[in-house]
Formats: sequence, C-alpha cells, structure tokens
Amino acid sequence: MKLFIDTANVDEIREVASWGVLAGVTTNPSLVAREGRDFRSVLREIVSIVDGPVSAEVVSTRAAEMVEEALPLAAIHPNIVIKVPVTAEGLKATHELARRGIRTNVTLVFNPNQALLAARAGAAFVSPFVGRLDDVGHDGVQVVRDTVEIFRKHGIATEVIAASIRHPMHLVEAARAGAHIATSPYKVLQAALQHPLTDKGLERFLKDWEAAREAVAGGA
Ligand code: E4P
Repeated sequence: MKLFIDTANVDEIREVASWGVLAGVTTNPSLVAREGRDFRSVLREIVSIVDGPVSAEVVSTRAAEMVEEALPLAAIHPNIVIKVPVTAEGLKATHELARRGIRTNVTLVFNPNQALLAARAGAAFVSPFVGRLDDVGHDGVQVVRDTVEIFRKHGIATEVIAASIRHPMHLVEAARAGAHIATSPYKVLQAALQHPLTDKGLERFLKDWEAAREAVAGGA
C-alpha cells in the first residue's frame, strides 16, 4: 500500500516527503480553503515537492463545467489528477477527461457500486471515505475490502485510495484490506510513526552508550 498525504499544507507535505515515504498528495476544497492561499500556486508548489499523483478537486457540479475547470488544473503538471465527485455529472466528466488522457480520482465514494461505476467511467483512482462511514455506524474498511475484491475479480486497473483516514489503525486495516493507497492527514502519519517503547528504548541506548564512553574516558 502506497502512502499519500491528505492536506494542502506545503510544510506538512515537505516534512513527510523528507521521510522518503510519500507517493502522492490528495487535497479537497475544505483543505485548500483552510490554507487561505491561491489554489494554483499551492498546486505548483506541491508538484515541485512530490513526484507522484496530486489530486486537485473541481467545485463545479455540471460535467461540462467540471471539464472546463479541470483543463487548466491538469495543465499545471502531468502529475495533477482531477478529483471529481461520484455523481452522474461526475461520471460524465470522468469519462470525458479519460478520453482526453487526464486522470481522475473519483471522490465521496461510500459503497462498492459507486466505485465500480467510477471505474467503468474511466477513473484512475476511487476514494472510499473510511472515517466518514465509521462516523455513521458503517464499516468503512469493508467498503475498501469489497471494492478491492471486485476490481481484482474483474481485472479493473483503477486504484483504490482509502480516504478519510482518522487514526493509525485505519491505516493497518486499509493495508490488510488490500487498498492500493491510503491518504492520511499529517497527524495520522505522525501518530503511525510513534511508539512510547521506541522513545524509551532510544533513550536507554543513548544513556548506556554515553555511560560506557565516560567509563572508557575515565579509565584512560
Ligand atoms: C480524500 O481525498 C479526502 O480529502 C479526505 O480523505 C476526506 O477526509 P475527512 O473525512 O477527514 O474530511
């Protein structure tokens, strides 16, 4: 499972990219609005940091307008992927963008049928929202598992992005469910890296090392 970050904050992207683990970035209108910056400049900065798919979402609701909005975004860099909602208009836009050789990430997917429709329309990626399903008492990871199974069984090349990841166990579960990608907020990636026994163990190693060096220096 590849790791994407779900943010429009370039400092967060730069930090995780420096760990050497980052394969791509997803943004959405809420995340972009939070940054209070020009969308296109943010995208230009992101593609200069990460060499992988960078999802940029359209805000139009009609297919023709989605395509119109998508074209200048896609022109920024070949790694830009257009994020489109899984509506009938979104499917039409996905189909048209695929015809023009532009990759899409079909978003706001909450069941495997939506994912299948998006894939058949030509989506390069589909994004089931795990956390938001869990929030309403459903099993978000099951939607990822079912979608991966259906795509495998039917030879569909569309990649499944486990999205709306809320905590490190979502990452583990998404990986076990066979998600090709998980896109996580910065704080989840940080939490995934942490373990108190790692910190405690490191502290102990360094303390022992220092004590031994002092003993050697004292004996010399
Ligand atoms: C997916 O690409 C979305 O940007 C994202 O994962 C939504 O997550 P949320 O439910 O935490 O807003």
